[in-house]
Amino acid sequence: MKVAFLQTSPLFGKVRENVEKAVRRLNSIDAELVVLPELFSTGYQFRSKKEALGLSEDVTAGYATSRLIEAAKAGKMHIVAGIAERAGGRVYNSSVLVGPRGVVGVYRKAHLFWNEKKIFARGDTPLKVYNIGKARVGMMICFDWIFPEVARTLALKGADIICQPSNLVLPFCPQAMITRSIENRVFSITANRVGVERRVKGRALEFIGSSQIVSPAGTVIRRAGGRREEAGAADIEPRDARDKHITPLNHIMKDRRVDIFEL
Ligand code: ACM
Repeated sequence: MKVAFLQTSPLFGKVRENVEKAVRRLNSIDAELVVLPELFSTGYQFRSKKEALGLSEDVTAGYATSRLIEAAKAGKMHIVAGIAERAGGRVYNSSVLVGPRGVVGVYRKAHLFWNEKKIFARGDTPLKVYNIGKARVGMMICFDWIFPEVARTLALKGADIICQPSNLVLPFCPQAMITRSIENRVFSITANRVGVERRVKGRALEFIGSSQIVSPAGTVIRRAGGRREEAGAADIEPRDARDKHITPLNHIMKDRRVDIFEL
C-alpha cells in the first residue's frame, strides 16, 4: 500500500488558496492514503474564537472537505486532513478522513495545546478506527502525541496506521512518534507544516516540518526537512502492524500489567 504525507505552508486565512494548492499537490501524488497537516486550510494562530468561527466550516458542506473528496475521487485515494470544524456554534480543531465516496470519519482534537484552549472546544469524539480496504486507520492530532493513551487506544482498537495531522512548534514529537510506533507496533504518519505565523505580538510561531512515516519496528521510512513544502511517500505492508510480538515470548498488548497500572 502506498502512503504519503504532504507537508505544506498554509497562509493564514486564505482558505481557498490553501485548499487549491493542496489539491494540486494531491493530484500529483501516487498514493492510496495521504495525510495533510493540522488546520491545513485556515492556518493556525487565530486571535479569537470569533475569527476561528468565521474561517471554520461544516464538515458535510464545507469547501475544504468538498474539494478533498473531489481529489480523493480523482486519485482513488483516502485523505486525512486537519480543518477548523464548525458545529453547533462551536469550533473544533478536527481531522477528517475522506475517500472517493465522501466523509468516512471525523476526529475532534482531544488535547488542546496552549492557546488553542482559548479558541477551540475540547474534542468530544471517541478514538475510532476506520477500515479503508487495505488498512485500518486511526486519527490523532499533533499534541495528542504527549498522551500515550491516545496511540495505545487506537492500537488496541486495531489501527494499522495512525495518521497525525500536526502543526508542531516544539521539537520533541518526531522522535516521540518513533516510540509511539514501537510501543504499539503500528505505522505512524505525521504530516506537519512549515513556515512562520506572526499574528500575535511577541508570539511568533515557527513550525518545524519534519513530517515522517514510521514503521511498527520504529524505522523512519521517510522524513521531510524543516523548511520546504514537500511530499514523502512509502510502500508499506499494513499487516506488519498486526503482529504484536516483540520477541516470541513478548506480546505488547497481552503482556500489559493492567493489574498494577493506574488508569
Ligand atoms: C499542536 O498541538 N499544534 C502543537
